[in-house]
Amino acid sequence: MIAARIIGHRGASSLAPENTLAAIRAAAEVGVSWVEIDTRLLGDGTPVVHHDECVDRCTDGTGPLSAFDRVTIRRLDAGGWYSEAFTGERIPLLAEALALVRDLGLGINLELKADGHSSDQRLVHAVLGELRAAAIPSERVLVSSFEPAALNASRVQNRELLIGCLWSRLPPHWRRRAAALGAVSVHCDWRYLTERIATAVKQAGFDLYCYTVNDPKAFLPYRDWGIDGIFTDRPQDFLGGGQAAGLEEQPGGAKG
Ligand code: G3P
Ligand code: MG
Repeated sequence: MIAARIIGHRGASSLAPENTLAAIRAAAEVGVSWVEIDTRLLGDGTPVVHHDECVDRCTDGTGPLSAFDRVTIRRLDAGGWYSEAFTGERIPLLAEALALVRDLGLGINLELKADGHSSDQRLVHAVLGELRAAAIPSERVLVSSFEPAALNASRVQNRELLIGCLWSRLPPHWRRRAAALGAVSVHCDWRYLTERIATAVKQAGFDLYCYTVNDPKAFLPYRDWGIDGIFTDRPQDFLGGGQAAGLEEQPGGAKG
């Protein structure tokens, strides 16, 4: 079980450009204890923090991440698209993001953006290497993915790793599939969640996290379903005023 109910999605992506160091800092500033970020590989095998396969949506550049290396990726501006105030933000190397998370004392849900191809093994290997180097306490790291093979490879390489199974809608045999991966948690799109499924996930012994919940009022009907936490772009709307979501954090980030 991780010690967070409100998890900053892509950092705090309503306050700063998603998946940047600024977004991680913004999350910490509003008081979250955990952030979720996405990770992918550059063409030279360097893991970076980025959601999309291409840089077009969130930078001033164009093309797939695989066309960049750790030098050329620094030339892209990853903040100006969001607002002028963030011009100069870069796509962070994963190593930089992990160092910041560690220094801020946050927990990290790393989402492996795997695609089911052979490069997934390289991604897992590179990410686990960066995690070892960053030396974040193991109880503050949770690795998730939509791609079960990437989770399996992660677990094979590090038996201690906390694993979260990510689905939009829970598939048939989700219980068996999550158990086979040694998952501690199930993560799903809250729009497809029902009380019956939430109860089944909890009864099966998994933590339950939902993405991406940005409206505290809309979340009210879900508050008694046993959901352990939410990913939100808007942690500022849930913390402090979090009673509205029924997910208020305990002091020190621990859950009640
Ligand atoms: O990890 C939860 C959520 O981030 C999964 O979807 O597309 O926002 O990475 P996405
Ligand atoms: Mg994600």
